[in-house]
Amino acid sequence: MALDLHKRVYSSEVQASKPGSLVVVAGWAADVKSLGKIAFIKLRDRTGYLQLVSTDAKLIEKISKLTNESVILATGKVQASKQKSGGNEIELKEFEVLNLSEPKMPIDISGKIQTDLSKRLDYRVLDLKSPRNLAIFKIRSQANASTRDFLLAKGFIEMQTPKLVAAGTEGGATLFQADYYGRKVFLSQSQQLYKQYLLAAGFDRVFEIGPSFRAEKSHTMRHLTEFTHFDFEMAFIKDEEDILNVLEEWFVYLLKDLNKKCSEQLKLLGATFEVPKQPFPRITYEECLKLLSTVGVKLKFGDDIGTDEEKKVGELIKKKYKTNAYFITKYPYTLKPFYIKTDGKISRGFDFEYDGEELASGGQREHSAETLTKQIKEKGLNPKDFEFYLLPFRYGMPPHGGFGLGIDRLIRYILKLENIREAVLFPRDPERLTP
Ligand code: 4AD
Ligand code: MG
Repeated sequence: MALDLHKRVYSSEVQASKPGSLVVVAGWAADVKSLGKIAFIKLRDRTGYLQLVSTDAKLIEKISKLTNESVILATGKVQASKQKSGGNEIELKEFEVLNLSEPKMPIDISGKIQTDLSKRLDYRVLDLKSPRNLAIFKIRSQANASTRDFLLAKGFIEMQTPKLVAAGTEGGATLFQADYYGRKVFLSQSQQLYKQYLLAAGFDRVFEIGPSFRAEKSHTMRHLTEFTHFDFEMAFIKDEEDILNVLEEWFVYLLKDLNKKCSEQLKLLGATFEVPKQPFPRITYEECLKLLSTVGVKLKFGDDIGTDEEKKVGELIKKKYKTNAYFITKYPYTLKPFYIKTDGKISRGFDFEYDGEELASGGQREHSAETLTKQIKEKGLNPKDFEFYLLPFRYGMPPHGGFGLGIDRLIRYILKLENIREAVLFPRDPERLTP
């Protein structure tokens, strides 16, 4: 008798079934044990684990030939487990092997033996079998969905913009270049240009969750060469404060939604986070310098706040304001890109910081074509290369602003993962192009 795949239920449903009922289940034989007169299969599916047990000689013989990680379809009677952990198990009646796994896995996925991240990433498809990883990516999926829900309800339009582009927007140092039928082509560093185009066209509020590329040569825990960029832009703002308000409202909504919808996954990962109170503190760049000087770090106006100093600022703000979510505002113009609005000295650019790490950058943009041309020159760039960028500014561009945020960093920071690569299915860095 062939078992009916369509009758399959998840292991979590078996836990909710009445003892005595007959069920069909399918999944991976995570752990197979044949002990002479009794045999066990620990079955894994996307909802968890389920114990299958048999004392039938024929079945025990069949189970003894089964390798770990083989895919099986099984049927049996639900019964209360005699194990300490309780719950239900299945007394096997019959099972089919849908796919027999090779007997030895190159990495341990049970969590019993620690494998270093680099090797885990080499065998990522096997590594992703672990319930811990499934939990991370369910949370990531929900974070994207919650972000969409929040923005669509606020009248934002979701966009998909080109990733093959003719010029960079975030500086030449991190541009990937390739040949495009005899011309130069670059991989998009951000959606910056196109989101601004759409505001000129009258779309009013736009966002995208899509890939961006940066030729980062550094090997850090927070940089990738391909990352997922949540980019956001809105028109008719008075100043950057309008952006900060939406950003913090989204962030609070997101954390609350994740607590509500991913409680099981968060528990599995042992991850907890506090939902920060609104409004998040707005700390100016100059205040940051003052805070740093209280602990002996001397920076002058215009100096970049490096990674170590940024962490320090995070600690000082946590002490003073009792929060780990805050904005650094009013950066020097010299530290921000050409498209930012400025009085020549101080820009309307900001960073959104979480636990002393940058999660997003944004600001109000310059919307006058004339001033923009001046700023392009001031940044040592050639306005000729930005002709296509400048065009919509000559035909009616409203005042506007927005931000860009890395989804990979977001997941890493809220789950307190050690390395950004753990938050990405198939991460890309200077060494890694496979799998
Ligand atoms: O700070 P960035 O470079 O800002 C922009 O792209 C602007 N267009 C944003 C704007 O609207 N003004 O990048 C935005 C965010 C960073 O804060 C970071 O979270 C993420 O994108 N990011 C990276 N994440 C992983 N690896 C990298 N190499 C990243 N570069 C930026
Ligand atoms: Mg930035």
